[in-house]
Amino acid sequence: MTDVTGTASDYFASMIEDYDSLIRRAVPTYQQMLDTTLEYMPPHPRRGLELGCGTGNFTLALAGLLPECRWTTVDASDEMIELTAARVAEEATGVHVDCVLARFEEIEFDAGSFDLITSCISLHHVADKAELFARLRPMLRPGGSLRFSDQLTGAAPGVADRHWERWLEHCRAPEQCTEAEVDHLVEHSEAHDHYESLAAYAQYLRDAGFVGIDCVWRDGMWAIVTAEAPLA
Ligand SMILES: C[S@@+](CC[C@H](N)C(=O)[O-])C[C@H]1O[C@@H](n2cnc3c(N)ncnc32)[C@H](O)[C@@H]1O
Repeated sequence: MTDVTGTASDYFASMIEDYDSLIRRAVPTYQQMLDTTLEYMPPHPRRGLELGCGTGNFTLALAGLLPECRWTTVDASDEMIELTAARVAEEATGVHVDCVLARFEEIEFDAGSFDLITSCISLHHVADKAELFARLRPMLRPGGSLRFSDQLTGAAPGVADRHWERWLEHCRAPEQCTEAEVDHLVEHSEAHDHYESLAAYAQYLRDAGFVGIDCVWRDGMWAIVTAEAPLA
């Protein structure tokens, strides 16, 4: 049984063996979202930062698509970091991936350290996204790219409610999640998630100095956002 006390990372660590099965049953477009994010990667990044490796699904996809890039992936769960490092060693031989145990709220990298910062459904765990984006922007070189998918709320309460109902309907459909799993997902969401609207994300990104802000794909509460660090 999973434990929703502690941090979001404690929660994910406690369900590590079930994660891949559950995420695919609970997030109907997980694979599509992951694949679509890859389509929007900039060409030939040399240094990339991933926020939230989890069990390494997106990490391995990035390593497969952009094997020449030197990757750093960050996660606050040592179990997730260890699993991703083991999968990279086995499935992405020759690709440089540093697996770093840290909270997003605490990472510090020199200015211009990365050509690309990316993430797959992990940033909604951060309460203060304005602060996060303001700290991330200088880590990108001028002209560098931010690409992430995340779980959002709707801009109006009725829209947010409809997204939530649609998601619960999906989870409760035959062959998806058990009622115990649904209860835990809802408890986890209430304990650890900080959903924001697309408009709020765009505002935080603008305030942090990003340009070219776009939402390139959306399905209910899941979206892919792209933005660039200005050239000068
Ligand atoms: C929903 S999982 C997504 C994992 C992976 N990107 C995927 O697509 O399957 C979120 C991940 O973010 C990590 N995480 C959550 N909050 C975090 C934080 N504040 N700092 C660092 N990692 C965090 C969790 O440990 C978990 O591995």
